[in-house]
Amino acid sequence: MAQIYLDYNASTPIDPAVATAMQPFLDEAFGNPSSGHWASTPAKAALERARGQVATLLGAAPDEIVFTSGGSEANNLAIKGTFFALKHKREHIITTAVEHPAVLASCRFLERLGATVTYLPVGSTGRVDPEAVRRAITPRIVLISVMHANNEVGTIQPIEDISAIAREHDIRVHTVALR
Ligand SMILES: Cc1ncc(COP(=O)(O)O)c(C=O)c1O
Repeated sequence: MAQIYLDYNASTPIDPAVATAMQPFLDEAFGNPSSGHWASTPAKAALERARGQVATLLGAAPDEIVFTSGGSEANNLAIKGTFFALKHKREHIITTAVEHPAVLASCRFLERLGATVTYLPVGSTGRVDPEAVRRAITPRIVLISVMHANNEVGTIQPIEDISAIAREHDIRVHTVALR
């Protein structure tokens, strides 16, 4: 029986251009970029070049770009990091009921440390209503966390509208945007 892979939302074959760009660092320049010896130099140079390229793409400074091992680590870092940095001023997080477990578990963890979390419902197509986000905003909001594309059903959330609302209130937005 022919098998057809339909789970590109969870994982895809590596883009050949990415594989080609990565190959030298798997074969030859495999040194730990954080080590101080000769083998680290090419890897460190490539890492810093990549950091600069990502920063340019996003209109950010290179030292604002943090590479992580994957989505779960990045979610933990962004959500807990923002909360711990600002909890003396604001402790309320807005998210949705359909986030990845890495986001939901981070929020549940922070609730045990005093955070208030609003889990917004989604409609029949899996989308959160940006106006529901607006209505949930209080002066205590420290972060709005909404995924870009749902990891199970692929629904694209209205991140642009949510970000515009957040910007009106000077609130940070966290999203997982995978390519
Ligand atoms: C929205 C979202 N967050 C987090 C993750 C977890 O990423 P990782 O498996 O790299 O930890 C995924 C993975 O599919 C995801 O889709």
